[in-house]
Amino acid sequence: MNSQVSWWVFGVISVVLILNLEYTVVQGGASEETKIHIVYLGEREHNDPELVTASHLRMLESLLGSKKDASEFMVHSYRHGFSGFAAHLTDSQAKKIAEHPDVVQMSPNTFYEPQTTRTFEYLGLSPSSPKGLLHDANMGEDVIIGILDSGVWPESPSFSDKGLGPIPKRWKGTCVDGENFDSKKHCNKKLIGARYYMDSLFKNNQTDSGILGREYMSAREVFPHGSHVASTAAGAYVPNVSDNGLGMGTARGGAPKARIAMYKVCWQTEDGSCATADILKAMDDAIADGVDVISISLGRAIPIISEIDVNNVFSYGAFHAVSKGITVLMAAGNFGPDAYSVQNIAPWIITVAATSLDRWFPTPLTLGNNVTLWARTPSANPEVQAELIYVDSSKKMTSEAEGKMVLGFITAENGETANDFINQQIAVQAAGVILADRRNDIMTVSIGMIYISIDYQQGTTILNYIKSTSKPTLKVSPSITLTGPVVATKVADFSSRGPNSVSPCVLKPDIAAPGVSIVAACTPEKMNYENGFTAMSGTSMAAPAVAGVVALLKAVHPDWSPAMLKSALITTASSTDPYGEPIFSEGLSRKLADPFDFGGGLVNPDKAANPGLVYDADAQDYIRFLCASNYDEMSITKISKQTIKCPSPRPSMLDLNLPSITIPYLKEDVTLTRTVTNVGPVNSVYKLILQPPMGVKISVRPKRLVFNSRVKKLSYQVTVSTTHKANSIYFFGSLIWTDGSHNVTIPLSIRTQMLTYFDQ
Ligand SMILES: *[C@@H]1O[C@H](CO)[C@@H](O)[C@H](O)[C@H]1NC(C)=O
Ligand SMILES: *[C@@H]1O[C@H](CO)[C@@H](O)[C@H](O)[C@H]1NC(C)=O
Ligand SMILES: *[C@@H]1O[C@H](CO)[C@@H](O)[C@H](O)[C@H]1NC(C)=O
Ligand SMILES: *[C@@H]1O[C@H](CO)[C@@H](O)[C@H](O)[C@H]1NC(C)=O
Repeated sequence: MNSQVSWWVFGVISVVLILNLEYTVVQGGASEETKIHIVYLGEREHNDPELVTASHLRMLESLLGSKKDASEFMVHSYRHGFSGFAAHLTDSQAKKIAEHPDVVQMSPNTFYEPQTTRTFEYLGLSPSSPKGLLHDANMGEDVIIGILDSGVWPESPSFSDKGLGPIPKRWKGTCVDGENFDSKKHCNKKLIGARYYMDSLFKNNQTDSGILGREYMSAREVFPHGSHVASTAAGAYVPNVSDNGLGMGTARGGAPKARIAMYKVCWQTEDGSCATADILKAMDDAIADGVDVISISLGRAIPIISEIDVNNVFSYGAFHAVSKGITVLMAAGNFGPDAYSVQNIAPWIITVAATSLDRWFPTPLTLGNNVTLWARTPSANPEVQAELIYVDSSKKMTSEAEGKMVLGFITAENGETANDFINQQIAVQAAGVILADRRNDIMTVSIGMIYISIDYQQGTTILNYIKSTSKPTLKVSPSITLTGPVVATKVADFSSRGPNSVSPCVLKPDIAAPGVSIVAACTPEKMNYENGFTAMSGTSMAAPAVAGVVALLKAVHPDWSPAMLKSALITTASSTDPYGEPIFSEGLSRKLADPFDFGGGLVNPDKAANPGLVYDADAQDYIRFLCASNYDEMSITKISKQTIKCPSPRPSMLDLNLPSITIPYLKEDVTLTRTVTNVGPVNSVYKLILQPPMGVKISVRPKRLVFNSRVKKLSYQVTVSTTHKANSIYFFGSLIWTDGSHNVTIPLSIRTQMLTYFDQ
């Protein structure tokens, strides 16, 4: 059995804005300055993005007269949601291409202010600070992070080994030669391992049978995912990078000196991308090679398979890695915001959700009465002011709309889409479309035409203005960039949510980290390699950010088990952003984020280095958990290679020593146990702070924990009862042990169920 795991393509919210990089070209002896121009071509003609790009290159080639120039001068190829491209063109070339029959619209580019690429600054890991985790961990120099992904582009400056000491002696891995990949040339003291796995996809090198587009028969990647992920975990410092102007700043990974081993398991094929048989082999090798941390940004659609099904290789393979002291991090998935959508749910894995950063690109909309509204959609267009009209349907956009701004509403009832309006905008040459949309959190690609998404409240304000005046007008100005405490941090719409549908007593996701518009390394296939960096969004970006943090923690606490590292992350995570503002959950409606959105909360690296107490667990605890989960003894025996006799009656799943308490079916009183290990000052006294969920009574014994040189570990019992009379939803709370300086906080998620398995 060799099932396919779909490879996430994370262009979900990739904002593509263009920085106007000027240079001079010499054509036919005369030199003329070029500027970036955006050529919009409407709906794409092919489903295959490669064909779309090929058609763009052909169009550019017919203009510039050479294939080489076409690829050299192209900046972006827009080929997924619609078709178009951005290219360096002289004014006369731009004029000429605007007359091409396929071109809908051609517009010159505009500017944004440079901004920092700020994931780790946002998380408080500032390189300029003389103290703190980044400093204490020596940027993770002795830690090796294994990445299972789509390969790596070794020439990226993120993988430079400048300033790194010798490769840690325990490293037993290797760099495998392959197509366009020479281990002597492409591996170094940063990229210390590179392997590729394709045996279950292509037999005997018959790669022409199912390959889509270009591939390298080596660890070199084509699709820019692995390089992005690897550089987010452990990329070196690279100053002045951006996605063509967006998010300008210094790029770097969470552990800028940690070593990277890339295991290429994903290929672009007709059947799928990342074969489980190959992934298992890669995990197997990674364990043998001596990695300390494994980061995997892969997942697949619902339904989710149990912890020990062989097709769920992540949980199964991860069990063995964790049993050997290797921390395994995985993305929570991009299937949010629905409940039960979280992936990679085994209790021994660290499952990572994605949040936004403190950086926004709002667009000012100024009405004729001088009221200004701020739209979430970024716009790269120059300022445009026009007459404003309202239509209740895209079909009502007639020639009357030519040259005007159009306000429309997208509702569940009218069933129209943004595309209906955009197509009509093109057909009648409207100046722009302002759409009040059901979800306005999706940032759209700026394409040189005005399309702005707003919420219903803003839509209603504009509509009331239109009705109040005889000659309504609207001005759309270019976006501004705001950084800092402007808009609350949110768990991203796409980030998969709990509860855990397989083991409802195990809280998932565990932790959250930034994963929206993250700028990191990419490959030349992304068409902007002159820059070499690109912005991507997804839980794929959040997981390696935490992998970098784990590498730093491992450097300062080399003897901590994976469960201790995970506990340190969760008990110190924050439910507020770095400015102390609460974190929200993005979705059809807004609410405060809860543990099913972000687990313990937003990762807080400096605090995680000094958690006070930890909730430890080892392979025996996980085996007991498998007994509790009613797995048959034979399977557990085979997995663990120990003769397992599960106790009778089976143990309670609630007793797994997790840094969280999740009770999905509370009816009668329940008592459970947790054990904490002191990793702080030897003589410490911890007191209890309880914040019980609504309608739930909790009593804890003892209420004080006293540690000294002989007492390192203490257990406590938690008894939970409900006062609800009917099935309730989940209510949330916290249980905190505090010694005055360390708050060891675990999330509580409790649901009363008089009638179990009732759908709600
Ligand atoms: C597969 O191709 C690679 C490179 O083209 C070559 O080195 C290798 O020997 C081939 N393997 C087989 C089994 O033919
Ligand atoms: C980065 O850009 C800034 C501002 O444009 C400039 O002052 C600085 O020298 C640049 N640094 C590098 C290393 O290119
Ligand atoms: C809007 O502001 C402009 C410039 O400040 C001013 O000339 C105009 O009268 C104002 N319009 C209204 C309706 O207040
Ligand atoms: C610990 O948590 C309590 C309750 O939320 C809070 O009042 C206190 O300030 C926290 N202490 C620290 C050191 O964070």
